[in-house]
Amino acid sequence: MPNEKLQIDAFAMEIGDVADADLEQLHALSISVGWPHRSEDWQFLREVGKGVVATDEIGRIMSSAMWFSHSAELATIGMVITSPRLQTQGTGLWLMEYALKDMGGVNLRLNATRAAQRLYLSLGFKPEKTVYQCQGIVTHPPTDLPPSGELRAITDSDLAAAVALDAAAFGVARTGLLEKLFQCSKGYGLFRDSRLVAFALCRPFGRGHVVGPVVASNDQDAMSVVAPNIRDHEGQFLRLDTHFEAGEFALLVVRSGLAVFDTVLTMSLGKSLADFTSDEADAPVTYALVSQTLG
Ligand SMILES: CC(C)(COP(=O)(O)OP(=O)(O)OC[C@H]1O[C@@H](n2cnc3c(N)ncnc32)[C@H](O)[C@@H]1OP(=O)(O)O)[C@@H](O)C(=O)NCCC(=O)NCCS
Repeated sequence: MPNEKLQIDAFAMEIGDVADADLEQLHALSISVGWPHRSEDWQFLREVGKGVVATDEIGRIMSSAMWFSHSAELATIGMVITSPRLQTQGTGLWLMEYALKDMGGVNLRLNATRAAQRLYLSLGFKPEKTVYQCQGIVTHPPTDLPPSGELRAITDSDLAAAVALDAAAFGVARTGLLEKLFQCSKGYGLFRDSRLVAFALCRPFGRGHVVGPVVASNDQDAMSVVAPNIRDHEGQFLRLDTHFEAGEFALLVVRSGLAVFDTVLTMSLGKSLADFTSDEADAPVTYALVSQTLG
């Protein structure tokens, strides 16, 4: 990691590797902007991605940015944070420019908060579509949802099929990420003729659990695989990030107690979302993101 420096007022900021950063300081940084990540969530992200932090002269972490190379063709960016006391002074742009240089022209995707949209627009990112961050205490889990196929808990032997289904929906095969998610998630798969046609994973995250990814070719299948995850968390905090605002799947999520808490904007640089996905009627679709950071 080169020893780059940025002078902000009295601060001389230095870039460091997120891999070497103090976990508790990273946690404090995300808390300072009201994000729910636990130290474990930062650690998970460090294991699947790369990133930088900006530190002041006495080693305090003031800003961060991470990126996740899913394939030679596509990476996602996330955990872009500047401590509130240092915002709007160029640190976010500084770290983003560093990240873009490091990734060297690969196609990029990210989910931008309102505060960050101007920063990403200035770097050439194009708006794609809205993400609805749904969360809350599960109050009314779905009950009567007969699946059209065999619905069962997903196991390690389903990994290759899940990677292929996710790749068809997301655009590239996220083998390493899915492998790690399988280790820490509970999931359900829907099978027809012994073939995986939809799945949903759920793992501990932030204030409770998050459901994602959810991949299916239609609302009915998406609802079938997500229903047991929601039932498993009755009375508990659950979150799900989706591009779907309307339709039966979105309705089921909201009716279960997961109200729309916030929205972010999916943006891309280079190839667009449509360039990575199929528009055929029965093509697999991402019904819930792994997370805003990982897409
Ligand atoms: C978004 C964020 C990382 C920007 O960091 P920063 O260090 O303030 O960024 P910069 O100073 O380099 O500013 C870059 C641009 O964003 C604008 N900007 C920064 N904060 C903003 C805010 N709260 N609202 C609107 N625009 C903002 C700046 O004015 C600047 O635009 P300009 O060059 O046209 O003037 C920071 O506001 C933050 O941590 N927000 C909370 C967490 C968050 O939402 N992260 C983004 C995740 S996608």
